[in-house]
Amino acid sequence: GLPSIGVDIGGTKVLAAVVDEDGRVVDTQTTATPGKGSGIDDATAEEVEDALVSVVSALTREHGRCTVGVAAAGFVDALGERVRFAPHLPWRDEPLAERLTERLGASVVGEVFVDNDANAALWAEVRFGAAGDAEHVVMITLGTGIGGALLLGGTLHRGLNGMAGEFGHMQVVPDGRGCECGGRGCWEQYCSGRALGRAAQAAGSTLVGPALTEAAQEGDPAAVAAYAEVGRWLGVGAANVAAAVDPELIVVGGGVSAAGELLMAPARAALAESLVGRGHRVLPEFLSADLGPLAGVVGVADLARDML
Ligand code: BGC
Ligand code: NA
Ligand code: ZN
Repeated sequence: GLPSIGVDIGGTKVLAAVVDEDGRVVDTQTTATPGKGSGIDDATAEEVEDALVSVVSALTREHGRCTVGVAAAGFVDALGERVRFAPHLPWRDEPLAERLTERLGASVVGEVFVDNDANAALWAEVRFGAAGDAEHVVMITLGTGIGGALLLGGTLHRGLNGMAGEFGHMQVVPDGRGCECGGRGCWEQYCSGRALGRAAQAAGSTLVGPALTEAAQEGDPAAVAAYAEVGRWLGVGAANVAAAVDPELIVVGGGVSAAGELLMAPARAALAESLVGRGHRVLPEFLSADLGPLAGVVGVADLARDML
């Protein structure tokens, strides 16, 4: 079988990987997402595209022609062609698949395939990870924002516009914090990598990223409090999604999920406390992702190979 390249483009970084047929990552390339990842004025659509071309080219120079899939942090149409909208990236109705296919030329087998990053992560967990044989699964990825995806009856559910599963922009606080999508009080403003940084700061910590995770693991009170707060929001939001979908499993991926139980324990408690019908239903399993931050690249590489 042909190796396939998966690229995950989020608000802060681009990760590209060569993935074999069994979902194993063979090689990787990373670069920062152009711009500060904090708004659409920071970088042009073309600059972000340049970053994708450079990481993929570096991998194909080494590994030869591959199928290529891109997992984008945005609203991707159901055909895998266009990024219609992306709160944290400059793409607006961008024909990304066509542009990348053209620019990458002979190094791509077939056409570049594009999907939402959380859809890709869910697919990876279904094929190679935590979701196993489950049929009704909710995926929640905590990165710059919240990515979401739904497996219903064993099928990835995309909806009319390809925009199903955008849980991050459900309003949880009327007139709450402003969101990059243009709305207010969106769930991802309270529960995401960015929200974690904000919660840590409010608790008196200046740490972010892996340093914050380490501090929490060592019992630093401000860091633990930040995870507890974000974890609580995770559980409350997950209960709302579960009320709608009644899944057997909720998988939490993305960078923030690397903290494991620091996040998941408060999240499970909040879910159990707030899910409607508690006491009269089987609670969904609520787990962190097996493939962690690699889920997006593994899933989209597999989807791209399947498209051939
Ligand atoms: C976007 C999602 C994306 C997520 C990634 C959200 O703001 O709406 O499409 O998956 O950010 O963190
Ligand atoms: Na999605
Ligand atoms: Zn929003």
